Parts: sequence; C-alpha cells; structure tokens
Amino acid sequence: MEHARRVAVFGAGYIGLVTGACLAELGHTVAVRDILPERVGLLQAGEVPIYEPGLGDMTLRNKERLRFTLDAEDAVRGAEVAYVCVDTPPTASGDADLSRVWAVVDALKGASHLLALVVKSTVPVGTGRRIRAALDAAGLGHVGYVSNPEFTAEGRAVSDFMNPDRIVIGASDPAAADLIKALHAGVNGPAVVMDVASAEMTKLAANAALATKITLANELATVCEATGADIERVTEAIGMDHRIGPHFLKAGLGYGGSCFPKDSRALHAL
Ligand SMILES: NC(=O)c1ccc[n+]([C@@H]2O[C@H](COP(=O)([O-])OP(=O)(O)OC[C@H]3O[C@@H](n4cnc5c(N)ncnc54)[C@H](O)[C@@H]3O)[C@@H](O)[C@H]2O)c1
Repeated sequence: MEHARRVAVFGAGYIGLVTGACLAELGHTVAVRDILPERVGLLQAGEVPIYEPGLGDMTLRNKERLRFTLDAEDAVRGAEVAYVCVDTPPTASGDADLSRVWAVVDALKGASHLLALVVKSTVPVGTGRRIRAALDAAGLGHVGYVSNPEFTAEGRAVSDFMNPDRIVIGASDPAAADLIKALHAGVNGPAVVMDVASAEMTKLAANAALATKITLANELATVCEATGADIERVTEAIGMDHRIGPHFLKAGLGYGGSCFPKDSRALHAL
C-alpha cells in the first residue's frame, strides 16, 4: 500500500484494540502494547478479550500486520506514529486522571524517529498543549501532536471506526494533520481538521450534547407522568423534527456507561 505506515498503539483495551485492528485492516503495520501480562498473553495466543462485532475476525485476518507486546520499546521500535489509547478514569474532583497518558509520553521520550503522537484517550482541554511542551522540552519538536478523539458506541466500534460520522483531527501543524488524514485512507467518513484544543473540546461537547438529550427525555418523562401525557409518543413526535432528531431521546434510567458520567464531570470541572 502506498501510504502504509508503522504504528505503535498504547493500550489494548476497548479503543486500542479496535484502533489497532482497524489500522492493520487499512494496510498499516501495527504493534499494540499493554501493561497487563494476562491481556497481552491472550492476544498473542490469538484470543480477543473483549467482544465487539467483527473485531475477532479482523484481528485474525490481519495477523501478519498486527502484533501485541508488553514492552514499550519493542512497540515503538521503527514506528512512525504512536497512538495513546490508555484509560483516563475520573479523579475524586471529577477531572480525568492522566497518569497513564503521561506514562506513555515519558516512554516515548527517546523516540526521535516518530513523525506524530496521536492521543485518542479522552482528555481535558489543554492536555495537548502540555504534552506538546513536554515533547518540545525532550527534543521532539519535530514530532507532530494530534488529538484524534473517538466517538464510538460500544457494540458497533469496528463499524464506527470504518464508517464514522466524522474523523476529528486536531493537529499542532499541517504536516501532522495530513499524515493522520492519510493514515485513514480507506475509512468511509469526512475528516474535520482543527486545532488541538478544539478537537479535545469536540469530544467533551459531543458527549455533553448526547447526555443532555437523554436528560431532557427523562425530565420530560417526569412531567408526562404527572400530566397524563405519553412520553413515548411525545419523544417520537419531537424526534421527527429534523432540528431535534430521533436519537438519544429514549426516556429510561438516565445515562450511565463508561463515558457519559466521567466526561460530563470532566467538562464541569473545566
Ligand atoms: N470505551 C469507549 O466507548 C470509549 C469511547 C470513546 C473514548 N474512550 C476513551 O478512550 C480511552 C480508552 O478507553 P478504553 O475503554 O479503551 O479503556 P480500557 O480500560 O478498556 O483500556 C485501556 C487499556 O490501557 C492499558 N494501559 C494503561 N496504562 C498503559 C501504558 N502505560 N501502556 C500501555 N497500555 C496501558 C490498560 O491496561 C488497559 O488495557 C479513555 O480515555 C476513554 O475515555 C472510550
């Protein structure tokens, strides 16, 4: 493939495994690194420890170009692009714990052969600016920094990666933006290129918008219950208005999952 690259992915969790497998499917050569021996052992034995439709087959199909390792140096050796897909859980104050992200940045300090560092983990606005400064201080001023947030929904992560509504590329310079855009050649969706802080904000803003729609449906359900109106019919009818749209208007238990609560708290903390 003309634009095939060598890629190191940090984090073999939900986002890292899907990113690694999809990049291999696109023709790139990928090394995925995790710190959990059990997880890496399973992956090396050809088993995928999470269930996502299509992920197992894709991993198997691309095994020539997709490998798993515990060793950061091994993953980065010869890589042109490094992806950060580690977890960023909430701290007590609601902000994101970035210790794992910084551990990866530290592990890359000698990697002067890198062309770009891409952060897919969800991070507070301003993180990219701080990582950019750390790279510059480590003599890696030539390594482009890119914020490339993930908008996937669990259960359709592979299909969302290959057919996204949009690919958000927040880059520190135009060459890095072009590199990551080219890396996605074959993905069926438009790239939206912007500055790093705007890309970081887009991720939090998208989850805030979705969480707000769920919250609205639940608030309306309470009023419907008190007034004898039928929430199902109300949300069906308002969802037919193209300015509102039908998605994320199902009244129920409220929002949960791995991202909405923590990303809402992270936005609030900002
Ligand atoms: N899961 C989702 O639906 C989703 C959607 C969009 C964004 N995100 C964001 O993507 C990021 C990753 O989420 P996830 O669901 O994949 O998390 P996860 O917990 O499933 O996976 C993270 C992995 O990173 C590994 N890790 C930790 N430190 C490491 C290091 N120094 N080097 C290599 N690996 C390391 C962990 O062992 C773990 O396997 C988070 O910031 C999350 O907010 C998740």
